[in-house]
Amino acid sequence: MDTLYDKVKKWLAANSKPRHMAHFERTAYWVGQLKPGADEAMFIAALAHDAERVFRDKATKHAGAYIREPEYLHAHQEGGAKMAGEFLGRSGADEALIERVKMLISKHEEGGTQDQNVIMDADSISFFENNVDHFANDLMKIYGKDKTVEKFKWMYSRMSSARAQEIAKDWYDRALRLVGEK
Ligand SMILES: [Fe+2]
Ligand SMILES: [Fe+2]
Repeated sequence: MDTLYDKVKKWLAANSKPRHMAHFERTAYWVGQLKPGADEAMFIAALAHDAERVFRDKATKHAGAYIREPEYLHAHQEGGAKMAGEFLGRSGADEALIERVKMLISKHEEGGTQDQNVIMDADSISFFENNVDHFANDLMKIYGKDKTVEKFKWMYSRMSSARAQEIAKDWYDRALRLVGEK
């Protein structure tokens, strides 16, 4: 029988490109590395942290998705928390788990509590591990080099732990080289 984690994975995979799934699954992997003994809610939140990006109305997509416009980030975090919470509700998860997953996703871009920071740090590591080529090869053509470099620098500097930055360092340097910044 599928665990809740499996169900969330299938829900996302049915609506995502493989490279998005790689980012999501590796975010969950890095949560396990950063916090041994992390609970089910943390793994589910890591997997589903960008649910808003998967399910948002394409018409609302704008440059804010690329760079850290506070208004967009807020809608992205809260929207993802709500979508994941609704899916977990439909899947028979208990209320305490649903609330915890929503709380974790709701601050995955800006951090807050220790556990929210772990999700944010894991997201940053997985970003540098998996998403950088798409930014350098495709998105930079749309948004330009300055915004791309700014995005990379923000994704690196926002990490709350030195350990997470250490893990991501080589990928971060590679990212800057890829866009001609190093
Ligand atoms: Fe996100
Ligand atoms: Fe992410």
